[in-house]
Amino acid sequence: MYRAPRGTVDILPAEQAYWTLVHTRAAEVCRLYGYERIDTPVFEDYGLFARTDAKGTDLVEKEMYVFEDRSGQKLTLRAENTAPVCRAYVEHGMFNLPQPVRLYYVGPTFRYERPQAGRYRQHHQFGCEAVGDAAATLDVEGIELALRFLSSLGLQQLSVFLNSIGCRECQPKYVEILRHHYQAVSTRVCDDCRIRMIRNPLRLLDCKEPGCKAIADAAPHTSDYLCTECEAHFGEVQEHLRLLEIPFTLNHKLVRGLDYYTRTVYEIQPQREAGQSAIVGGGRYDGLIEQIGGRPTPAVGFATGLERIILNLKEQGIEAPPVGAPGVYVAHIGDAARRTALSVSKRLRDSHVGVITSTGGKSLKSQLRHANSLGVRYAVILGDNEVQRHEVVLRDMAANVQETLPQGTLLSRLQYG
Ligand code: HAM
Repeated sequence: MYRAPRGTVDILPAEQAYWTLVHTRAAEVCRLYGYERIDTPVFEDYGLFARTDAKGTDLVEKEMYVFEDRSGQKLTLRAENTAPVCRAYVEHGMFNLPQPVRLYYVGPTFRYERPQAGRYRQHHQFGCEAVGDAAATLDVEGIELALRFLSSLGLQQLSVFLNSIGCRECQPKYVEILRHHYQAVSTRVCDDCRIRMIRNPLRLLDCKEPGCKAIADAAPHTSDYLCTECEAHFGEVQEHLRLLEIPFTLNHKLVRGLDYYTRTVYEIQPQREAGQSAIVGGGRYDGLIEQIGGRPTPAVGFATGLERIILNLKEQGIEAPPVGAPGVYVAHIGDAARRTALSVSKRLRDSHVGVITSTGGKSLKSQLRHANSLGVRYAVILGDNEVQRHEVVLRDMAANVQETLPQGTLLSRLQYG
């Protein structure tokens, strides 16, 4: 028996109302802020993700689905969407458009991770990227947009955690100070952290091992070592958040798992006891476009995992409005009625009335039972008599009453009652 691959899930019809809801809200909120949709391929050139700067991140080293196609080209399923959006920005000359270019995406993303509640090997991200402008207002716009999206779904009690990790000028200086802090305690850190000390020191702050956590707590703060420009930028971000009355908590250990961040980094977490906590992750990445071959271009954005959002909606008892199912079931008995059922169904659909046409061959009772189980409002019943007289029987399933009508009046009866 085949099963869906480990870490993936089928999104069954019963779940689709949630997915329709999150997709609709994402599109609505993006329209409010002028973000336009972009779709990039689900696979990309391996090099786009495995840039030299990206080495040392778990995403590149352990989590990518890498394969060669039949021509020997090394490809990877996209492990995130920021680098693909930047690739598209450069490839399509979007730097010629008025800046910033505001883009959003919704789609599957692939990471070979250890599956657990809220963590999958295929998950779906909704994300926004504002490319081509360094203004702190854009960093705040992303946070505000993400919060508006979440609250439009009914999610409340969300916490914003914020940090600044500086730029290419000040970050290396901070990293040296951090290394120094860790050198003094190197015998007490976990094996992974010993590797991080060499390859990716910022990630030391993020270690979940209890012993390492205490060391990270006592580590120097990135925000105390920012250059003048980064300090001013970080100050503006905080000032604008206060202006918009968005509460936030500074977290000096927040560094994010991807290599490309500069300056602002943030995460949004719902208040919940167990499992994966961050539902939104984002920040500024002013060096990425240059790294992938474009001109130096500042940019900022975030992404959110839709599975985690739906998990939170369910935990908070928030239901998605049902997706409109067809309201009419056409039942028929006999050959002539089967043919009439097809044309009656067609005419209703031509007028945008949703219809489930019975496949027939069963008793009327069993067809009506089927109609009932589908939750339709009306059954249209056709037998030899109705066909001969150009009539239909219209049955109100909930009220358990029925009437006979000329076929020609069925549509207006359904539309206007
Ligand atoms: P990320 O934090 O790696 O950031 O992922 C963003 C969000 O995707 C997470 O907050 C989480 O909700 C969801 N997510 C990540 N991995 C999984 C998984 N295995 N299963 C389920 N959900 C998951 C990025 O991907 C950046 N590209 C965000 C960004 C956009 N930064 C700037 N612009």
